Amino acid sequence: MPLLEIENLSVTFPSQTSDLYAVDGVSLTLERGDVLGIVGESGSGKSVAMLAVMGLVAFPGQVTADRLTFEGRDLLRLSDNERRALTGKDVAMIFQEPTTSLNPSFTIGYQLAETLILHEKMDRKAARRRTIELLDQVGIPAPEGRLDAYPHQLSGGMNQRVMIAMAIACNPKLLIADEPTTALDVTIQAQILDLLLSLQRDRGMALILITHNMGVVADTTARVAVMYAGQIMEERSTESLFGSPQHPYTAALLAARPEASDGGRLATIPGVVPGAYDRPRGCLFAPRCAYATPHAAECRPELRPWQNGLIRCHYPLGDTTRDERIAADRRAAPPAAAPEVA
Ligand SMILES: Nc1ncnc2c1ncn2[C@@H]1O[C@H](COP(=O)(O)OP(=O)(O)O)[C@@H](O)[C@H]1O
Ligand SMILES: [Mg+2]
Repeated sequence: MPLLEIENLSVTFPSQTSDLYAVDGVSLTLERGDVLGIVGESGSGKSVAMLAVMGLVAFPGQVTADRLTFEGRDLLRLSDNERRALTGKDVAMIFQEPTTSLNPSFTIGYQLAETLILHEKMDRKAARRRTIELLDQVGIPAPEGRLDAYPHQLSGGMNQRVMIAMAIACNPKLLIADEPTTALDVTIQAQILDLLLSLQRDRGMALILITHNMGVVADTTARVAVMYAGQIMEERSTESLFGSPQHPYTAALLAARPEASDGGRLATIPGVVPGAYDRPRGCLFAPRCAYATPHAAECRPELRPWQNGLIRCHYPLGDTTRDERIAADRRAAPPAAAPEVA
């Protein structure tokens, strides 16, 4: 039985005129110990999709799925108590800003101990011992001396370590890390990623790493799902995705990496992720795609198996017939404003 199964997950935010599909038919399967990256530009639905897994999408957001299970348990039908027990313990999530998860009015020692007392039913003394161990494991020097520190007395990197200690305190089977290093400077970023990966390896924990940074997933994950406008556009092994991206969007993201630019300006993908009102009928990436055709603009591609992965594109880059098909699909459409000929 897979650890996490997501089938056709959608999250909509209603508005007076037209609902925003923040997540639009996402399917993902995670086995025990898997390391999956979810990448995509800001606004592509990465965070909302994982908040839905955690049961943290707030009203008026609407969550629907054909299947959303953790170890076979239906996450959509948990009682509040069952959900709290599961999401504090077996599934944990860390966020970009440690301040959103750490309470500024309590010492870090107190907050960690409370988690252990609540979920692991430890007494205060055992919880204190375990807190020191955890702080040591996440690389906080002289942890006994830090127990009485308040979050504002620690650096951003240290707070991020405390948050990771909190997330792993109850030995989760799945850790979801949402842009865990974005707010940190580059050297600290690398340290935090190393820490997450060594914890993942030592504990056999599954890890979902959300990031808008392709460079981060390249070094850390085994498999990547590329999200755009609420949908998965491509999913495959990290090696194959970086070696030969098949979706034009993936290729554009790779070309926009700082290390891919030749010392000049940072490449960007022209255009923006569509919002609630400007969602195309066909392929959601068509308005920004160099290879779009009238057919692609009109007809939404399905996510389908392709070269040991999945792709949502009419014209995968590695398809030898794509140039001919693109040309034919462009010819087939009538010119936009063809003058009438008598
Ligand atoms: N509470 C909310 N109410 C309305 N729209 C939201 C809410 N949360 C997120 N969104 C919208 O959902 C879309 C996806 O957001 P998000 O998952 O945060 O993107 P990402 O994490 O990929 O940057 C965005 O257009 C965002 O504005
Ligand atoms: Mg996000």
